[in-house]
Amino acid sequence: TLTRVLLSSTLIAVSASVTFASELRDDAKDAFAPLPSTIPAVKDNPITPAKIDLGKALFFDPRMSASGVFSCNSCHNLATGGDDNMPTSIGHGWQKGPRNSPTVLNSVFNEAQFWDGRAADLAEQAKGPVQAGVEMANTPDNVIATLNSMPQYVDWFKASFPEEADPVTFDNFAKAIEAYEATLTTPAPFDAWMNGNDDALNADQLAGLSLFMDKGCASCHNGVNLGGNGYYPFGLIEKPGADILPEGDKGRFAVTDTADDEYVFRAAPLRNIDQTAPYFHSGKVWDLKVAVQIMAESQLGEELTETEADQIVAFLGSLTGDLPEVTYPVLPAETASTPRPTG
Ligand code: HEM
Ligand code: HEM
Repeated sequence: TLTRVLLSSTLIAVSASVTFASELRDDAKDAFAPLPSTIPAVKDNPITPAKIDLGKALFFDPRMSASGVFSCNSCHNLATGGDDNMPTSIGHGWQKGPRNSPTVLNSVFNEAQFWDGRAADLAEQAKGPVQAGVEMANTPDNVIATLNSMPQYVDWFKASFPEEADPVTFDNFAKAIEAYEATLTTPAPFDAWMNGNDDALNADQLAGLSLFMDKGCASCHNGVNLGGNGYYPFGLIEKPGADILPEGDKGRFAVTDTADDEYVFRAAPLRNIDQTAPYFHSGKVWDLKVAVQIMAESQLGEELTETEADQIVAFLGSLTGDLPEVTYPVLPAETASTPRPTG
């Protein structure tokens, strides 16, 4: 009888955890979505292999900056999580920019780009850094002159936009980069679990997922990227100190000019978050556990126990995925008519 009692209590425990797992998955499916298994479609920009290859060349080409020093990959290094691991980025003339560089990985799934969502999509976004004085400090005309000076680039633009008579344009530059960025998606253990693989997450990660939903993190960090799709005051319940939330950067206020939007930021997307320290738009927090504790206090008015914070961090680790293999592109050589680096 003892064996029977043990056996039946084991069975109860097992079936309880099966129920728990399937209920947890149902709840998770209401809040989040796994990454699609194919390259996502992008609005008004059909993605072709030629366009992806062109976009990749542009992404890695430092000659898109005035100085010839900075490429997109300088601040969104695909070898280090798609960001630069600095509090705020260093750009043209060794200037320090005002904000932390977010990862480009999976950025195609964000509903708007930048910490304040001021660019609607990746094609609009890509035109920003090239012209920003503290980033690449270039002009569209100089980018086009640079591209037109290298016949290989002109051929690649023709192959990427075959229906256009004069395809080397700043719009197409941005569209090609957007097409490349759409390939930078990173399926993670969390996706495998969402798709039915019970073993993809360990017990701590499952407990962390449960907490992430029960405590209310998922009310702002949801969807495919667990964020990137809504705006909230940073400090909804309790405003963090100026060391973390510098007073000069009012977030969406600068976009909408509405008082309600002071210190409002896009809920940050959380895929690959354990690869992209330091945290927050200010880049002031290096430890993910500390960032999680700050979020719980500032956004939910809640103090997490050490175990809870550790479990949430464990769950966030399950969002770190595999980057598609990236081979370093060989770029066209400059010619006599290529504009020379300045600044
Ligand atoms: C933001 C791509 C060049 C620093 C972003 C975002 C994308 C992106 C997609 C938005 C991500 C998100 O909102 O989650 C690119 C491309 C570049 C480029 C395609 C080349 C054309 C650079 C360079 C730097 C840089 C050279 C550093 C000097 C930043 C920073 C942000 C950002 C600081 C956040 C800015 C803000 O929110 O106001 N970039 N980037 N980027 N990038 Fe870049
Ligand atoms: C940023 C996690 C709750 C809105 C972040 C970051 C993490 C995080 C790790 C930093 C992302 C980065 O630097 O790339 C969490 C966790 C939560 C939680 C674990 C629950 C304990 C919330 C809630 C809201 C929210 C409830 C909305 C009311 C935001 C916003 C940012 C952010 C707006 C960007 C902050 C900035 O401008 O730097 N979250 N979050 N989060 N989260 Fe949360």
